[in-house]
Amino acid sequence: SSTRILIKGGTVVNAHHQELADVYVEDGIIVAVQPNIKVGDEVTVLDATGKFVMPGGIDPHTHLAMEFMGTETIDDFFSGQAAALAGGTTMHIDFVIPINGNMVAGFEAYENKSRNSCMDYGFHVAVTKWDEGVSRDMEILVKEKGINSFKFFLAYKGSLMVTDDLLLEGLKTCKSLGALAMVHAENGDAVFEGQKRMIELGITGPEGHALSRPPVLEGEATARAIRLARFVNTPLYVVHVMSADAMDEIAKARKSGQKVIGEPVVSGLILDDHWLWDPDFTIASKYVMSPPIRPVGHGKALQDALSTGILQLVGTDHCTFNSTQKALGLDDFRKIPNGVNGLEERMHLIWDTMVGSGQISATDYVRITSTECARIFNIYPRKGAILVGSDADIIILNPNSSHEISSKSHHSRSDTNVYEGRRGKGKVEVTIAGGRIVWENEELKVVLGSGKYIEMPPFSYLFDGIEKSDAKYLSSLQAPVKRAKSQAT
Ligand code: URP
Ligand code: ZN
Ligand code: ZN
Ligand code: ZN
Repeated sequence: SSTRILIKGGTVVNAHHQELADVYVEDGIIVAVQPNIKVGDEVTVLDATGKFVMPGGIDPHTHLAMEFMGTETIDDFFSGQAAALAGGTTMHIDFVIPINGNMVAGFEAYENKSRNSCMDYGFHVAVTKWDEGVSRDMEILVKEKGINSFKFFLAYKGSLMVTDDLLLEGLKTCKSLGALAMVHAENGDAVFEGQKRMIELGITGPEGHALSRPPVLEGEATARAIRLARFVNTPLYVVHVMSADAMDEIAKARKSGQKVIGEPVVSGLILDDHWLWDPDFTIASKYVMSPPIRPVGHGKALQDALSTGILQLVGTDHCTFNSTQKALGLDDFRKIPNGVNGLEERMHLIWDTMVGSGQISATDYVRITSTECARIFNIYPRKGAILVGSDADIIILNPNSSHEISSKSHHSRSDTNVYEGRRGKGKVEVTIAGGRIVWENEELKVVLGSGKYIEMPPFSYLFDGIEKSDAKYLSSLQAPVKRAKSQAT
């Protein structure tokens, strides 16, 4: 793969505009976007006639090499990134899990896990306890380590879960640092209760997972997190929105002007929960993730919300375990490691489901798979755009081609795939990452160590206007304070 690439004759798609143009790349950067670019020899020319030339996907939500539920995800940064690139995703943001609550130690561990990356990546960091050390760690991570988002788990009682007092402290600290607070929104206490209820009823199989944590618990936690973020007056990002219940809360808050971002994931948009009742444990257990995949109807509601802008971007929550690992919960659904695949499938499935079906345009597709993520995490237009000066992370998608998804051909290490046998329209034929052709003719040519850690600066556009609204709130308190004082004298 040459350092000079010319992509000729394609339709170049950005989030707000598409046009017929050539794209010229040199040393990892896009240096020209215009019709009929002329170049000399020593340039690799790719013909994109009849195809779409788009920013590489950015997956805002992955878990690679994560220790979780007594085991470790089968995909690490090597196999996960291979899968991503083969599927047209050129950057992902992974979640750092603290070590015994220590966030900086956790960050350093993930620096090691990701050292040989073949694509660009960033990190969110989870907050799992609260003390003085934690707020100091958050400050170090934002000011020195390129972190601008923190995740709070309102579920996983007994391990990762945080209580409301901790969430409030976290929201305040996020606000002061210009970092985005993210929530896994399920009521962990009620989930614990629901799980006990199922076990007492003798429902120990994978269907118990769905039954123990119904949409109402996701709606409750989403509403609670939204209200606490409003009380603190700081933006909120709800990860893996799986139900209409949660989506409705986000819609209501956004309508009132609150800054709330909602991230549906591919599994929640496309699948439904009937699989969890499959009598074959290997099949049923591969669909176990949290919040659960919901009954028919929720996915379509989430698709509609995505096409109307109530939800803003699509992640995967890629968190893979093979069938042997899933079998840890053979006798008790509470022990099935939670998580599904999607990193390799996201760009294809969203194209087929949303664009192929006519629900959204190609420009909207670029927005929800790449540009909006870059804006939210404050790395636009370096990422998420095909503009002069942007990083050369580019895909060429052929709308008239297709392929079948299978664990036999995918790049994940897992022996299963929740999209097994699916065939859809649209195929990523070429992936260019950091100015290198890494996927072409169904072949991966990655360069280990070529991926860069992308530092994400604080105070994204979501923080615009916060100081002003705080000042307005404070001055609104003055009138009653003055009245109280005058009454006292
Ligand atoms: O089931 C899931 N989602 N596993 C990954 C951890 C999380 O909650 O995101
Ligand atoms: Zn989560
Ligand atoms: Zn079904
Ligand atoms: Zn996740």
